[in-house]
Amino acid sequence: MVEAGAGRGALAKAVLAAAPACGPALRYVAVERSAALRAQHPAGVESAGTLPAEPFAGVVLANELVDNLPFGLVERRPEGWAEVRVTADLAETLVAVDDPALAPDAPVGGRIPVQRAARAWVDEARRLAGRVVVIDYADTTPGMARRPWTDWVRTYRGHGRGRSPLEDLGQQDVTCEVAVDQLPPATSDRSQAEFLRAHGIEELAYDARRAWQERAHIGDLQALISRSRVHEANALTDEAGLGAFRVLEWLQGV
Ligand SMILES: C[S@@+](CC[C@H](N)C(=O)[O-])C[C@H]1O[C@@H](n2cnc3c(N)ncnc32)[C@H](O)[C@@H]1O
Repeated sequence: MVEAGAGRGALAKAVLAAAPACGPALRYVAVERSAALRAQHPAGVESAGTLPAEPFAGVVLANELVDNLPFGLVERRPEGWAEVRVTADLAETLVAVDDPALAPDAPVGGRIPVQRAARAWVDEARRLAGRVVVIDYADTTPGMARRPWTDWVRTYRGHGRGRSPLEDLGQQDVTCEVAVDQLPPATSDRSQAEFLRAHGIEELAYDARRAWQERAHIGDLQALISRSRVHEANALTDEAGLGAFRVLEWLQGV
């Protein structure tokens, strides 16, 4: 398993906690460009700064990486499309560009992202592994053209929302929802709730609920772990919350 954009390794840690079920079959490589975050990776994880150079038998997984990759921004003007660029004093300036042909019916004033880096990343991951799994906020380019761009370009600082992407440079995370139609066609595209159900989260939650009911009166650690597993399963599959994340998969020869 190669997890790209592993951050501090929160997902890696959770997967490794379940790893006894996988035994020695699981080798977990956490790829993170930030050395400071790599230093926080949990024990049992192999850390790397870049994806492996050569193809391997396994999975490339990216949870909230692709929304973090650089993107362009273009706006529909009455006379055609213009790229939104930034001047040295951090003001927006529009520069005419060729029709990106991504959202023909975009209203004048509508903006869309141009996600070449995301596409290149998926191409590279597919070259490396027969299974690529991307979990992220996603929409389509025409859908984004109809929404205010400030809805789908979001900034985060600490655990809260940040300010405009042109403020606090280097101090906040700039993210952009993933336009799935700009990526190579996926083998499957479903909500996180559907993906987790297909992989047995309801059975896990059922077992945890039973364990909690049996041990609630004891109130020991196992009881508390079981209770939090039930809450986590509910949160991860809540279609109005985390369950609405998209899970895109590319399978080749698997
Ligand atoms: C939101 S975090 C991902 C959290 C993590 N996947 C998890 O589930 O706990 C995104 C991470 O991707 C990293 N990143 C961005 N571009 C990258 C790249 N090209 N290669 C590796 N890591 C990258 C960022 O440094 C950041 O730590």
